[in-house]
Amino acid sequence: MTTAHAAAPLRARASTGLAGRIRIPGDKSISHRALILGAMAVGETVVTGLLEGEDVLRTGAAMAALGAEVTRGDDGVWRIHGVGVGGFAEPGGVLDFGNSGTGVRLAMGAVSTTPIACTFTGDASLCRRPMSRVLDPLGRFGAESMGRAGGRLPLTLRGSANPMPVTYVSPVASAQVKSAILLAGLNAPGRTTVVEREATRDHTERMLRAFGASVSVETHDEGHAVSVEGGADLRAISIAVPGDPSSAAFPLAAALLVPDSDVTVEGVLMNPTRAGLFETLREMGASLDIIDRRDEGGEPIAALRARFSALKGIEVPPERAPSMIDEYPILAVLASFAEGRTVMRGLKELRVKESDRIAAMARGLAACGVKVTELDDGLIVEGNGPGGMPGGATIATEMDHRIAMSFLVAGLAAKTPVTVDDSAFIATSFPGFTELMTGLGGGLVRVNR
Ligand code: S3P
Repeated sequence: MTTAHAAAPLRARASTGLAGRIRIPGDKSISHRALILGAMAVGETVVTGLLEGEDVLRTGAAMAALGAEVTRGDDGVWRIHGVGVGGFAEPGGVLDFGNSGTGVRLAMGAVSTTPIACTFTGDASLCRRPMSRVLDPLGRFGAESMGRAGGRLPLTLRGSANPMPVTYVSPVASAQVKSAILLAGLNAPGRTTVVEREATRDHTERMLRAFGASVSVETHDEGHAVSVEGGADLRAISIAVPGDPSSAAFPLAAALLVPDSDVTVEGVLMNPTRAGLFETLREMGASLDIIDRRDEGGEPIAALRARFSALKGIEVPPERAPSMIDEYPILAVLASFAEGRTVMRGLKELRVKESDRIAAMARGLAACGVKVTELDDGLIVEGNGPGGMPGGATIATEMDHRIAMSFLVAGLAAKTPVTVDDSAFIATSFPGFTELMTGLGGGLVRVNR
């Protein structure tokens, strides 16, 4: 979404019997990485199933501005002619990443060991988010940056002319930080290592290997040490992007909450570093079947079938947070319809996502008549049981796609309709969400402001 757009309010009303077999758009994390690694490789990378959401399209445009050839065929297949490691050209203008933290942080890593200057910006949400978490480690490679207070966007980064490999212990559990460092390390001679205390999503590691890079992972007491050998070429590959589990979460959650529903989502990425929500839902008593498990393009995938279920509240283990970090907004909605209390902790990172998701969920659920306690690092939700959420509120979506989708799912099962003030940001990660949910039988209607 650009900074100026017409807000698009959307209302969800109580529905019954959601049914269907669907596919959801491609995984956002893998899509960003396919474009960036394709741009850094030698030869033509071919990508099918790319998520064509705003966030990923911005990354594609940025890679083109850095000299890669990025094209989309009429058949929906994307082709990227890479410039090779260290081959990025200085862009002629500002690189605008819109709403996307992943896009901007990974791109900063990718350019930081090439001696060019790049200016990065984004929308109001992205300009509020902390960038020093990547700028600090990138500085150790010799990159220099100048931005707003706290390293916030807009900022200019000048990549290092003589990069040295780095070993960095990350203070935050963030795949974006890990990935930015690994991408920087590709153009530094020798071994670059990132140590993370908790394992975060590993798509960069998997994809780097597929592109021919030498990547190793060691687990010791302080955590996982992920290393990449710099100075080697990446070789172009073909990538089939699986369905995004973070997007699948919304229709599956709707099926669990709306009476008489039976929905199957096919081709969903089941990488263990992303599948924490599904484990949590089963602990809550959800009827969620994982069928047709198989491997495709180096990632496990499966079909997921969800049916209306009486859920019960649980304590979600805080150490599970990295594997479901984007799913807490929808989990908080599910917890509101569970019997009993759900405790979610260890979620400080949620305060620096597209919005402060702890505050946004606490405010929105309270407005819908749910008893919720906001903790510094999490939420406690007292469930009202199936169909028990009063609803009837208009929710401030705070430029956050997942807040918008979470409350629309809530509205499909609440006693009275729930309205989100702006559904436009849904297009950053889940183009076609409204049509897909309507196709399943969900009552979503546009409303005038
Ligand atoms: C992402 C990592 C996570 C996640 C984001 C996508 C990625 O962010 O919230 O939606 O693709 O690497 P952090 O790395 O900041 O936790």
